[in-house]
Amino acid sequence: MSVELKTREHIRGIRKAGRVVAACHKALSKRLAPGVTTREIDRFVERFMIDRGATPAQKGYKGYPYATCASVNDVVCHGFPDSEPLESGDIVTIDMVADMNGWKADSAWTYIVGKSTAATDKLLHVAKQAMLDGIKMALPGNYVGDIGHAVQKRAEREGFGVVRMFVGHGIGRSMHEFPEVEHFGPPGQGVKLEEGMVITIEPIITTGRPEVYVGMDGWTARTVDGSWAAQFEHTVAITKDGPVVLTRWD
Ligand code: CO
Repeated sequence: MSVELKTREHIRGIRKAGRVVAACHKALSKRLAPGVTTREIDRFVERFMIDRGATPAQKGYKGYPYATCASVNDVVCHGFPDSEPLESGDIVTIDMVADMNGWKADSAWTYIVGKSTAATDKLLHVAKQAMLDGIKMALPGNYVGDIGHAVQKRAEREGFGVVRMFVGHGIGRSMHEFPEVEHFGPPGQGVKLEEGMVITIEPIITTGRPEVYVGMDGWTARTVDGSWAAQFEHTVAITKDGPVVLTRWD
């Protein structure tokens, strides 16, 4: 398998999709509150994208039924939006992919619902920092392993786990392209990063053990030990001027 390198024009296309995703997350950050359901959020996201000329690429992808993944507390990813009202103290990860003129951008964000605790504050802080540490390594000449190593070092130093079962990926015309981006492992290994690669960096960090299992619906992944999980994901272009985050909003 080879990496499809993007031109500046291609990256502009992905950025347009990325702007929709970013604006949508910004809107969600104001909208998520106790009593709101993830099904309502899902409908909001779908409408938000369509109103801006984009489509939710997750819907129908390998049979996935919704525009978003909504993963609450011990759900690590790929949770189905449902009609349970969110409660104060919950954490919820909303993952979405917009398709704009055939170009895709992917970003997940974990939100605190209502009042946080010291534990959820720390989890979210470390998970976001781990993603940012990974992004910093997304430079031409570095290796995919440098990203994973930086993420894992941050998370484990702070006493958190890094989920192994789900990885970042190249993105462009397809949601999932080569290479896979593991969020763990030794530095200096794997695919060499080149100018024109566009990848997602999307570590899932847990308060406990990193083992997960997929439930009976074939999608919803939870921690085995019931610990809570947070995930921050950006779509990132690798350029000679350094990593360019195409889904930035906060
Ligand atoms: Co992704």
